[in-house]
Amino acid sequence: MSIKDLQRDWEDMAELDPLWAIISVPEKQYKKWDIEEFFKTGEIEIERLFTIINKLGNPKNYHRALDFGCGVGRLTRALSKKFEESIGVDISSKMISLANEMNSSYVNCKFQLNENSNLKIFENDYFDLIYSIIVLQHISDPEITKSYISEFVRILNKDGLLVFQIPSYIPPSMRIQTGAMEFSNLRRGGEDSKFLYEKRKLNPIRMNFLPEAEVIRILMKQKAKILEIKNDGMAGSEIESRTYYITK
Ligand SMILES: C[S@@+](CC[C@H](N)C(=O)[O-])C[C@H]1O[C@@H](n2cnc3c(N)ncnc32)[C@H](O)[C@@H]1O
Repeated sequence: MSIKDLQRDWEDMAELDPLWAIISVPEKQYKKWDIEEFFKTGEIEIERLFTIINKLGNPKNYHRALDFGCGVGRLTRALSKKFEESIGVDISSKMISLANEMNSSYVNCKFQLNENSNLKIFENDYFDLIYSIIVLQHISDPEITKSYISEFVRILNKDGLLVFQIPSYIPPSMRIQTGAMEFSNLRRGGEDSKFLYEKRKLNPIRMNFLPEAEVIRILMKQKAKILEIKNDGMAGSEIESRTYYITK
């Protein structure tokens, strides 16, 4: 799956049901998320992160945070209360427009579109914190995922903290995701996305993994230091998911 295909899928979801595409709990599908309740989940998530940050002792500075795969800025907003500047990056221009609209009163939040499999838009050692959860798991091409992980290390400050989540194992029976494949094929054939989502009950969101050993190999190549690897249960009970806490 190319980066353009991935982008098209997220543009569709940003149009169809953006908040559910971000936190996909069944009871909130078809635009049932209350916006305040939705953003509250971001506050809770960042408070949880800060209990871990306090134990790890990194980052040392609080100038700039990156929320990679920011969606509508659920976490960018919460991070903006802790950092001088909080930058959200997303592959979907519609997610970025929504993020700008929904967070217009959070003046130290900035949102940037990135349509590439690299993060050349940022210079080396730029961020004190890089945070990315429930994003890499949706990228089907492992080469793209690996590229982002290398790039995270490159743009992380020496005293910074990189935190990212990705499943390490999906049982073979769950790897073929027929609904997502059907959505993509019909969409490529010109079918209307609203019809596929609302009437056919299909969506393009996929779940992927990268074995822990692979992730460690990339991090070692980049001379990153692994502070901790946690089992996080973020991808459901049948999928093993890890969160990596990294510095350099
Ligand atoms: C499930 S949402 C999670 C949003 C956010 N991390 C949160 O927890 O609120 C996944 C987001 O990642 C974005 N995304 C997917 N692939 C991406 C990529 N290659 N680069 C940047 N953003 C990406 C999608 O557009 C979507 O907004």
